[in-house]
Amino acid sequence: MYTKDQKDQFVIQGLAGARTLKGSVTINGAKNSALKAMAAAILFDGPVTLENVPDNSDIQTLTTILKKLGASVTRESKPGQTVTIDSTSIDSTHIDDDLAKGMRASVVLTGPMLARYKKVAFPAPGGCVIGARPIDLFLSGYEMMGATVDEHDCVYDISVTSELGGTTITFKKISVGATETLMMAAVLAQGTTVLNNCAREPEIANVAEWLNASGAHISGIGTATLTIVGTGGKLLSAKKSFVTIPDRITAGSFLILGALCAEELTIENCRPDHMESITTLLTESGADIEIKKDSLVIRNSSKPVVYKPITRVQTLEYPGFPTDLQSPLVTFLTQCSGQSTVIETIFEGRFKYVQDLQKMGAQITQHNSHEVMVEGPTALHEVEGSQQLMAHDIRAGFAIVIAALLGKGTFTVNNVHLIDRGYEKLEETLGRLGARVVRVKK
Ligand code: UD1
Repeated sequence: MYTKDQKDQFVIQGLAGARTLKGSVTINGAKNSALKAMAAAILFDGPVTLENVPDNSDIQTLTTILKKLGASVTRESKPGQTVTIDSTSIDSTHIDDDLAKGMRASVVLTGPMLARYKKVAFPAPGGCVIGARPIDLFLSGYEMMGATVDEHDCVYDISVTSELGGTTITFKKISVGATETLMMAAVLAQGTTVLNNCAREPEIANVAEWLNASGAHISGIGTATLTIVGTGGKLLSAKKSFVTIPDRITAGSFLILGALCAEELTIENCRPDHMESITTLLTESGADIEIKKDSLVIRNSSKPVVYKPITRVQTLEYPGFPTDLQSPLVTFLTQCSGQSTVIETIFEGRFKYVQDLQKMGAQITQHNSHEVMVEGPTALHEVEGSQQLMAHDIRAGFAIVIAALLGKGTFTVNNVHLIDRGYEKLEETLGRLGARVVRVKK
């Protein structure tokens, strides 16, 4: 189990630019896929089995939320990383306020809950502190399917008198969460739902294919238009386990770490076909990446590589460059020779970590809340006096860990509980590669 002690710190000995880490990391299942499959378990008439479920604190939080609703959730310790969920015992339709506020992904429970129990109450969702995160697409989608939305004291009450009704919804913005949540709601609906302008992330397809194998009728999987023929209230029946796809964001994070800090790093159990945006960028910048069917090897062994800058990269919906790798990429760009520009198009406020890189000596100019310019290469150094480094969200936390490993001196990273949300025992994984990272419990 992971500690959620908010005071945990990492103390990291920097490598002072030496690329000495070596070894392999095995990539866990995608958190953003497993969380949605856990929510989808509510659509089933009995127990479901999920495999390759990572054991990070976001998964633990959703487990607790499901248990508080009355579901039975059990986890088998390794090797299968198997979670079994039986939602037939659910006896509450109020999603725990405090837990849900801390994790935005909990909003995906609302679709299956509404579809099955005809009502759900939940708080305005929280999650990573990465700018404004509205839920208008979810609410208007439910209303179009015939539900009534009532808001009081920051709690939403959503209800529908009979089954949700099929309809056509064209999302005004591409949203991963709204796509998968409305898709799940539509699975049990009366009639056909067409969702236009959908997100196409592989994690959505992962869940959709499993639902289809269990009695759902979703077509257009992997495209921007999903058509769902509802079962009219008939619950799904588990025919096979859900197998979580490898986490492409974790794999991409380690690929960047490997490019900067490793002599040779093998990234096992990943899906390079889900990672083309990052492997292409790094290769163009000069990284030596061997792409195999389900692994990647990055090498710095032959001669020291001076990476080329990336003139302009913008975060986009899949298959574009993922916003979740924006912060590790900026750390990478501090080591490229020349000027790079990064434009964040998905979220507001996702450059908070830049101040921490600046404290370490990185030459980064923030033009506005969506754009930074990075000038490299810069040798990163210890922060002065009582200044502290922070993990601002899951991925930015990883970006700061990479920067600390790169730097010269000793670095203390605070807010490690945010890193724990997405990376299992990161200090141990890095230790096995030869890094000196110690978790300090306060
Ligand atoms: C998911 C991922 C997150 C990733 C993000 C974008 C999970 C648990 N999290 O988050 O790691 O960074 O996709 O790839 O899977 N929006 C609205 N109204 C809504 C919903 C969203 O305007 O009702 C906006 C958001 O503010 C944001 C954009 O849509 O600007 C995309 O957000 P979305 O794709 O929904 O992100 P999440 O599903 O929360």
